[in-house]
Amino acid sequence: MNMQASPTLPFYHPTGRECELFETAYKNGLPLLLKGPTGCGKTRFVEHMAARLGKPIYTVACHDDLSAADLIGRYLLKGGETVWVDGPLTRAVREGGICYLDEVVEARKDVTVVLHPLTDTRRTLMIDRTGEELVAPREFMLVASYNPGYQNVLKRLKPSTRQRFLSISFDFPDAETEIAVVARESRLEPARVAPLVRLAQSIRNLSGMDLEEGVSTRLLTYAATLIAGSMAIEQALEAAIIEPLSDEPDVQRALRDLVATIYG
Ligand SMILES: Nc1ncnc2c1ncn2[C@@H]1O[C@H](COP(=O)(O)OP(=O)(O)O)[C@@H](O)[C@H]1O
Ligand SMILES: [Mg+2]
Repeated sequence: MNMQASPTLPFYHPTGRECELFETAYKNGLPLLLKGPTGCGKTRFVEHMAARLGKPIYTVACHDDLSAADLIGRYLLKGGETVWVDGPLTRAVREGGICYLDEVVEARKDVTVVLHPLTDTRRTLMIDRTGEELVAPREFMLVASYNPGYQNVLKRLKPSTRQRFLSISFDFPDAETEIAVVARESRLEPARVAPLVRLAQSIRNLSGMDLEEGVSTRLLTYAATLIAGSMAIEQALEAAIIEPLSDEPDVQRALRDLVATIYG
């Protein structure tokens, strides 16, 4: 196991051999794509690995307005002068750090154009505005994540982009691991976390319901944190699980029924 108690190392509980894969990818200069539902530990994993490798991490939360210039940099006016300011991707390339593009499919299409020469053997970042072509040092790594669950057709990662990355699928951990993770994050005793994890598993197994996604490990951690702070279980589950998961009264009722079977 690669759980380390160092205060500077973000806690991450591996669920498979992802740490080894990340390290090997890093050593060989290969980009990595993390796939999986929201709140299952992707971001934490990258933060953990960056700290373990002792590399700076530049995280960019991608959104539909994010353009190539946001990643690369732009000319800005400073005290009457125009100066070039590197974006996070350029900084990561110059410094030899890890650039993490969270939810990369959300970004605008021109971002793909930038990523291609950086993710093949060229390992080059083209900065059109300045005419610079930066060859990434060995220490640079590109990591991206996306959630295959709620992709709309307009926002798919094209095969020509996907096939430039090594990929790992993340999913919610098995019960034992999830209990350990939630207990550690919330400081609620494992025996009291166990029914929460059972609840999560039965929610995730619900089919035919109007739920976009199952409950995340993140939400379980919220619920456990409220309970550890001595909030009544029912209220904690309302605020941390039922309300965040759905706005539909029918769905909420079904979720409350599940709560009753587990806690009743
Ligand atoms: N394997 C894990 N090890 C440690 N914490 C985890 C793990 N999986 C989930 N978590 C917890 O879930 C929370 C959400 O994880 P995060 O990495 O932000 O999810 P994602 O980036 O996949 O949406 C984290 O803050 C952490 O508390
Ligand atoms: Mg994330």
